[in-house]
Amino acid sequence: MAKQILVTGGLGFIGSHTVVELQNAGFDVVVIDDLSNTTLKVLDQIAEITGKKPSFEQIDLRIKQDVKNFFDKYQVDGIIHFAAFKAVGESMHKPLDYYENNLGALVYLLQEMRDRKLDNFIFSSSCTVYGQADELPITEKAPVKKAESVYGNTKQIGEEIIQDASKAHGINAIALRYFNPVGAHPSTKIGELPLGVPQNLIPFITQTAAGIREELSVFGDDYPTPDGTAVRDYIHVVDLAKAHIAALNRLIEKKNKESYEFFNVGTGKGSSVLEVINAFETANDVKLKYKIVDRRAGDITAAYADTTIANKELAWKTELGLQEALKSAWEWQLKQK
Ligand code: UD1
Repeated sequence: MAKQILVTGGLGFIGSHTVVELQNAGFDVVVIDDLSNTTLKVLDQIAEITGKKPSFEQIDLRIKQDVKNFFDKYQVDGIIHFAAFKAVGESMHKPLDYYENNLGALVYLLQEMRDRKLDNFIFSSSCTVYGQADELPITEKAPVKKAESVYGNTKQIGEEIIQDASKAHGINAIALRYFNPVGAHPSTKIGELPLGVPQNLIPFITQTAAGIREELSVFGDDYPTPDGTAVRDYIHVVDLAKAHIAALNRLIEKKNKESYEFFNVGTGKGSSVLEVINAFETANDVKLKYKIVDRRAGDITAAYADTTIANKELAWKTELGLQEALKSAWEWQLKQK
């Protein structure tokens, strides 16, 4: 019988792509989403891609009793936990909402796992836990630095909560520290749906190219990088989704070396903001209007992953490049009109 996996936040950007890859890999999927940052249409879109509609429950994971009721109803063989708030700026104005949603829900899920002796937990973490690392590329040995934002802090504390629960209750868990997820599914049926004015670079670029935004602001050209603009590791969301399947299989097949592990999930290649703009223009044959402005508060100079450990331990590597990611992001944008 196929194993059933719970995906929380399964109708969000990374969640929906992961649900598709889980179904493609033969898993049954049950999605929990509160629809706070997505729509039910994504469920149909997933079904159009895979030919199978995942089970779905609209649940707010902050309501402990609803979490309990869910596990009374469904047997699950693993949990991939995406559901969380993720806007860095907003997190500074609404710290308690972020702690409640990102950490309260996590605790309730882990309590159910403990009480029902469930295993195999995958957590959405972020390279933000490293802050500005002293050495590049960033390995898993790089120290976790004090978080710059409440959002970043919820990822750090979340990892600690899982590590403690894993040690005390024997729950096997993997945290995946994502670099910058971008792009959309090649079917263009699912992608990123930013609410309001996008804060992240790629949706801002595609909306500018589409004429929704006047002009892209490049935040700073005086960083100590080859062209002066900040460098990030942009990973295609489909590659990122596949890393979750690899991590899940590692746990199910009991190949993990520790009960709690964490891996960097990036491409290993850094790209500057200007390189991204050029790559976008080349990949899609469109011109982007942009201007250089001051640095954005809280931004770091450069971050890109050393993927050696993830490649080896997860037997996973990225298959898609920046051009493909930017092409898919643009195709997705064109479909939104
Ligand atoms: C941001 C978050 C990070 C989070 C990630 C999720 C901050 C400080 N960090 O990462 O914690 O995990 O999103 O995807 O917010 N840029 C521009 N113009 C724009 C937008 C961005 O020049 O309009 C630049 C930024 O300065 C940065 C790069 O593009 O150098 C990428 O920015 P962004 O997509 O927001 O991601 P991060 O800041 O790396």
